[in-house]
Amino acid sequence: MSADRFHLGWFYSKGFGPKAWKHPWAGSAVDRFTKPDMAVDLARAMERAGFDYLMIEDSSNVPYTFQGSHDAYLRNSVDTPKLDPTVLAPFLVAATKHLGVVVTCSTTEYHPFMLARKMNALDHVSDGRIGWNVVTGSNDGGAQNYGRERQFPHDERYDMADEFLELTHRLWDAWEPDAVVLDLEAGVFADGSKVHPVDFEGKYFRCRGPLSSPRSPQGSPVICQAGGSARGRRFAAQWAETIIANAETPEQMKAYRDDVRARAADAGRNPDDIKVLFLACPIIGDTRADAEARLTADLTLTDDRIEYGLAHMSRLSGIDFSKFDLDEPLPKLKSNGHQSMVKALEGKVLRDMLKRAQRFGSDLFVGTAEDVAAVMDEVMQEVGGDGFLMVNSYFSRRYVMEICDGLVPELQKRDLTRTHYEHEHFRDNLLAF
Ligand SMILES: Cc1cc2nc3c(=O)[nH]c(=O)nc-3n(C[C@H](O)[C@H](O)[C@H](O)COP(=O)(O)O)c2cc1C
Repeated sequence: MSADRFHLGWFYSKGFGPKAWKHPWAGSAVDRFTKPDMAVDLARAMERAGFDYLMIEDSSNVPYTFQGSHDAYLRNSVDTPKLDPTVLAPFLVAATKHLGVVVTCSTTEYHPFMLARKMNALDHVSDGRIGWNVVTGSNDGGAQNYGRERQFPHDERYDMADEFLELTHRLWDAWEPDAVVLDLEAGVFADGSKVHPVDFEGKYFRCRGPLSSPRSPQGSPVICQAGGSARGRRFAAQWAETIIANAETPEQMKAYRDDVRARAADAGRNPDDIKVLFLACPIIGDTRADAEARLTADLTLTDDRIEYGLAHMSRLSGIDFSKFDLDEPLPKLKSNGHQSMVKALEGKVLRDMLKRAQRFGSDLFVGTAEDVAAVMDEVMQEVGGDGFLMVNSYFSRRYVMEICDGLVPELQKRDLTRTHYEHEHFRDNLLAF
């Protein structure tokens, strides 16, 4: 028996920035990193393969947590440089017809009105194919670019995000669907009785409203979220329509999904309205041995990779990992950044963790396209749904084609993923099964 159909997304990690740096298949992905080319190719391949969405990651500072300097980050292109993802998104929707495009924007960097307006415009120009990955910030360097010494405390960031979402939804709903009349005979462009100020007075934000533009095709962007801490999951259960999660085993995936579904039900929502996609970094080989050899290479630590991994983990956690012995278990750590990541590191030997610093999710998905499709089927049956978010931190066009034109046709053969889009809008496709 096969699992029900499941969804596919792609995590465009490292955002609108260089890909495949030092990788033999980089091609123009490095020297044309300020152009939309690579992402456009990827978006077209993903649409051909029936993906629900491409999610563009983002962060907005040149980090300096590791060794108190930005040098290692810039030398190795660790999570920097990055251009604004909301500028890339229109190129992707112009190159596709059905694919959802999710952009990452932080609730501690935008004002709710500005964010609501930008998402509304993107949803209009994309004819209803925009999503927003809601993040709250993690690294103090990011806060310093916006005039604050450090990030707000972790749980308070989510309290602020709750209020942010409440206000942006009020703004997105401020124009009734039929407010724009365009009645030349009566001389009415828009009906004022159908456009409502929001007069919002919260603890963190104030806004008069209404939004300066009419309701967009989806009304609001599809809300995507990734925080794995207890507070992060509570936020997701209330607002998210798709959750992207990191889990290594089917048991962990099932526990995560069951937990957010239960929280969503407690919050009065239908858990089926939230699609939880698990990070997967499949390695597809012509033979199983070929794929396994590539996995071994991926997990082999070189000096470059050690520095890369330490710098990356330092940025996410705000902890300078240069101060720990590579071969000793890590002590108890305190972070105001990515708490679920830091929790997973405690007590582990740093060198072992670094081997995985450029891999996400499970190592189960390694083999021929047929092998991997079969394992994905089994895992989804065990977890109960809802799909996978592909990711490969160094990815190249070759990697993307291996997934979209190698793995996905095998998934489609098994009727596990879609062969055509059911609906016009991103949200409707996400809810189609
Ligand atoms: C798959 C995935 C993608 C993420 N993408 C981003 C991102 O683009 N930008 C960002 O600032 N944080 C990103 N995060 C971080 C989360 O939004 C969140 O801040 C982090 O997981 C810490 O949340 P927690 O403390 O609730 O665990 C991502 C996390 C995951 C697991």
